[in-house]
Parts: sequence; structure tokens; C-alpha cells
Amino acid sequence: MKELEEKILEEGIVLGPNILKVDSFLNQQIDSKLILKMGKAFAEYFKDKKIDKVLTVESSGIAPALATATELGVKCVFARKQQSLTTGDNVYHSSVYSFTKEVTNELIVSKNFLNEDENVLMIDDFLANGQAAKGMVALVRQAGANPAGLGIVIEKSFSDGRRVVEDMGIDLYSLARIKSLDDGKIEFVEE
Ligand code: G4P
Repeated sequence: MKELEEKILEEGIVLGPNILKVDSFLNQQIDSKLILKMGKAFAEYFKDKKIDKVLTVESSGIAPALATATELGVKCVFARKQQSLTTGDNVYHSSVYSFTKEVTNELIVSKNFLNEDENVLMIDDFLANGQAAKGMVALVRQAGANPAGLGIVIEKSFSDGRRVVEDMGIDLYSLARIKSLDDGKIEFVEE
């Protein structure tokens, strides 16, 4: 997505060789118009997959997931990383280890919101090592639903995530694919 790549070049800040800071439009302040365009791009790519629901992980996945779900005319569900007061025990959960943050998070979603045989499109802001994606796929499979695809806003193509996702047989579509952040310079994969 050309406009997203331009935004990343304008406002992205490289923090070391591995981390891209994009909190001016994605991770804290949200560029609402750009997010809506992301939703349109994901919806267009996955339009033939008969998507019943969009699943993401709190917090930064929610905005692009909601935009996509709105375009597709379906509901958006987010997995929590902590039990809320009202979640109860009727939940699916999976453990996700973050190599970037060196912590393990539990992903939790109520059994009421993922149903057998639904086609579930998963959306997230970043793909690094694919662990969040694996966690979402596990939730979908526990529900007996079908992981119908994964939409990613920014893929760090120098990490392992794409291989992990493709090894699970999941159709992956990334709006921006970063080849390298070496020497503070952002380079995209040429499609
Ligand atoms: P993985 O799921 O693909 O294996 O990724 P990883 O564990 O490395 O990422 C864990 C968290 O760090 C995720 O956010 C992910 O979005 C974020 N992240 C990974 N690489 C980058 C990066 O280069 N830049 C930024 N800005 N974030 C990155 P999270 O913990 O779920 O946080 P949030 O959704 O609450 O913001």
C-alpha cells in the first residue's frame, strides 16, 4: 500500500536494527483516514473468503481490525491479554511468547464470540516472529472455526513471521513489508 509506505518513511522512527516506532499514526495516535483505507485494502484482498468475523489482539490491532470488519459488514472481536472483571471462565486461551518484548502473554477470548465453522479473518498491526498470529490461529481452531487469512499492517520481513504463518497454511497479506531497518534506513521489499 503505497500511501502507508510513504507514511512510514515520513513518520516512522527506527529504534535500533529491529524496531520501528510508528506511534504517530498506528500505535498510539491513530490516523483515522489511513486506518479506514487499510480496512478497505484488507477487505478487497479477502473479499472472496466469505469472512464471518474479524479477530485481532488488543490494543493496536483493534483499529485496523475494526476498519476491516466495517468494510466486510461483519463483527470484530479482540482477544484480551488479561482477564477482565466480566470475562468469566467460559473462554478460549492460548499463550504467546514475544521475542521482541521477552514476555509471555495469555490471549483470552470468550467462547460466545467465536463459533464453529465461522471463517475468521485475523488482523494485526505488526508481524515479527509470528507468535501472536500462532496464538490467534490456536483460538480460532479451539472454537472449531476456520482461520481464513491474516492481514498485517507492517510486516518485518527480516524476521521469521511470514514463514511461521505460511507453514500453518494461512493466506497472509501485508500492507507494507519491511526488508531492512539497518543503519537507521527503512527499506521495503520490492513486490
Ligand atoms: P510476533 O507476535 O510476530 O512474534 O511479534 P512480537 O512478539 O515480536 O511482538 C510483540 C509486540 O511488539 C506486539 O505488540 C507487536 O505489535 C509489537 N512489535 C513488534 N515489532 C515491533 C516494531 O518494530 N515496532 C512496533 N512499534 N511494535 C512492534 P503488543 O505487545 O501486542 O502491543 P500493542 O498491540 O498493545 O501495541
